[in-house]
Amino acid sequence: MTDDPATPKLRSRAWFDNPDNIDMTALYLERYLNYGLSLEELRSGKPIIGIAQTGSDLSPCNRHHLVLADRVREGIRDAGGIAIEFPVHPIQETGKRPTAGLDRNLSYLGLVEVLFGYPIDGVVLTTGCDKTTPAALMAAATVNIPAIALSVGPMLNGWHRGERTGSGTIVWKARELLAAGEIDDEGFIQLVASSAPSTGYCNTMGTATTMNSLAEALGMSLPGSAAIPAPYRDRQEVSWRTGKRIVEMVREDLKPSDIMTRAAFLNAIRVNSAIGGSTNAPLHLAAIARHMGVELSLDDWQEHGHHIPLLVNLQPAGEYLGEDYYHAGGVPAVAAELIKHDLLDTEAMTCTGRTIGENCRDARIEDERVIRPYDQPLKQDAGFIVLRGNLFDAAIMKTSVISPEFREHYLSNPDDPNAFEGEAVVFDGPEDYHARIDDPALGITVNTLLFMRGTGPFGYPGAAEVVNMRPPAYLIREGIHALPCIGDGRQSGTSGSASILNASPEAAVGGGLALLKTGDRVRIDLNRGTADMLISDAELAERRAALEAAGGYPYPPSQTPWQEIQRATIGQIASGAILEGAETFQRIAQT
Ligand code: FES
Ligand code: MG
Repeated sequence: MTDDPATPKLRSRAWFDNPDNIDMTALYLERYLNYGLSLEELRSGKPIIGIAQTGSDLSPCNRHHLVLADRVREGIRDAGGIAIEFPVHPIQETGKRPTAGLDRNLSYLGLVEVLFGYPIDGVVLTTGCDKTTPAALMAAATVNIPAIALSVGPMLNGWHRGERTGSGTIVWKARELLAAGEIDDEGFIQLVASSAPSTGYCNTMGTATTMNSLAEALGMSLPGSAAIPAPYRDRQEVSWRTGKRIVEMVREDLKPSDIMTRAAFLNAIRVNSAIGGSTNAPLHLAAIARHMGVELSLDDWQEHGHHIPLLVNLQPAGEYLGEDYYHAGGVPAVAAELIKHDLLDTEAMTCTGRTIGENCRDARIEDERVIRPYDQPLKQDAGFIVLRGNLFDAAIMKTSVISPEFREHYLSNPDDPNAFEGEAVVFDGPEDYHARIDDPALGITVNTLLFMRGTGPFGYPGAAEVVNMRPPAYLIREGIHALPCIGDGRQSGTSGSASILNASPEAAVGGGLALLKTGDRVRIDLNRGTADMLISDAELAERRAALEAAGGYPYPPSQTPWQEIQRATIGQIASGAILEGAETFQRIAQT
């Protein structure tokens, strides 16, 4: 057994070739032989490459990775590595009760233990459905062994009666049609089902397309790979290339800490604005950055992201879907536009061993209907606005999805531009909302602000995607399609609602939202970045004292052991909702 001279000392040798502990070496070797690997291979000094498999029957969005893994293996083998595939705790966004938000940190913990505790020199992170991507990148950041992400890719475009139907986004439209009596229950199901014509993840610019685009913008996946639709042959090819590349990364000792620098995160923030990315992106990037030991704050989103224009015309901010995004050039075409205007740090290193500037500078937009040139954007200033006030210390608003109708009604007062006031109607959780929204006794009008609380990472363990609330059916029938929505939960990246959300601290840990009452006047000012109850400080102090005397804002008991364990340490959305205290663990490979 000779070391491959090109390869640095591999951590897997401590298992399979440790002359100081021949007992354990023999034990490790014998069991990994038992399905067909040979002593010769295990002792060859070739890099052992993990394939972190997130696909399963329970995770339809990522299931195609079960097929793609064959091509990853072939790439690993062709480059001189040995593949070892293992399962990752599944996270299916649409299937998990009460919310998949619970599972990101659990999946992260499980993957860290595997990468730390087994003979793995580098890893292919199979990513896809919303939280599978951040969970994998968080784990890669913590252990800091060479890692590369492989997106499973979006589904093919959905179609219904000649129009594109995008996953998730169509649900909001179908709900309105149902509420207005234009379709029945069966019509609702057929319309929604039309958006899912093939294997892959949501074909809209939801959290999955967002996070896989940002993994690429961070430098953690091969250029151009994020947008390839799952069933395309190019997806098979890039799987093989990814397998080959991770072996080279192990030989080069190219680690997450070399790639996921602050410059890379700021690039990802700018790309997120240009693609019209999900409101879940700040939460997940914060979590990855904290596990990587990189400073990143919500203010970075406002400072580096807000002035970036919207270039990608994908639902929910625009009209097209995943196949169109790929044919138009995907992330490299977006990056090239930003590079031309000096808006990316071109020196940021990527998994190719080259910088993002070298990878993307010459990429072209292939279809300007889908990816706009920088000087003909869909919207100017398309990033998030950060809001603060006596309602919360921080919340965000996605400005790229503000509709003309919403702007006209709420943001066009000539004496008070970009600000509005209204009366609060407060819901305590999604069940309360569903039970009461259509009740005329609530008196909801076009001047009502809908509030959703009790839905943050502690109160509704994991934080539910429920802040975007449709107006009551009687208002929809009058043509009112959206009211301002504000809350401490999240919303789906596929939602086109300009909600003010991710409010931190949440009501259940004593945030200002807990003091709000139905009927209170609230003022939102986007110019000043403020969100306040128009209530005197003395009144607020009285309400706080009363809340504390009552034992605080009520929250439901945990339903599973993990809910209870996570509640003991989880932080707020603004700081990534990670397990506080766990971000500082020593990495396997220090920076
Ligand atoms: Fe999995 Fe949208 S539900 S990607
Ligand atoms: Mg979601």
